[in-house]
Amino acid sequence: MRIAVGSDHAGYPLKPVLIEALDARGIDVLDLGTNDATTSVDYPDFGAAVARAVVDGRADLGVAICGTGIGISIAANKIPGARAAHVHDVSTARLAREHNHANVLCFGARITGTQVAIDALNAWLDAPLGQGRHLLRLAKIDELDTDSFTTGKG
Ligand code: RB5
Repeated sequence: MRIAVGSDHAGYPLKPVLIEALDARGIDVLDLGTNDATTSVDYPDFGAAVARAVVDGRADLGVAICGTGIGISIAANKIPGARAAHVHDVSTARLAREHNHANVLCFGARITGTQVAIDALNAWLDAPLGQGRHLLRLAKIDELDTDSFTTGKG
């Protein structure tokens, strides 16, 4: 199992903490930056980088962090095949995996406390992928990547 991790400067304080939690589980980490909290960078670059690593198979899952978790999740979800979930706690993280098969977990480092984020990350990794009705709804999400509104064809 390999997980891609990325953040902007505002999300950076949480990044080493979550990498340590992944290390503790024996998970391989693909660190896509950024590498400090003081140099201002743009969250779309890192949300897209994490999502692309997941979609192209360099990583099995991704974790993306910005100040609020909002911008980086919006950016990640622009990559076809990404299912990025902006979560705040253990329950939303668990349900993001069970109901939505979220393949990118997004946090706001200025919003969510360190221990809550660690617990949420572990809950997401431990949650089962829901089947049945959830698969039907996920198929509908996949269709949005290629429907006529998106492609402008048909
Ligand atoms: C950076 O100041 C901040 O706007 C960004 O980290 C994020 O919160 C955007 O949604």
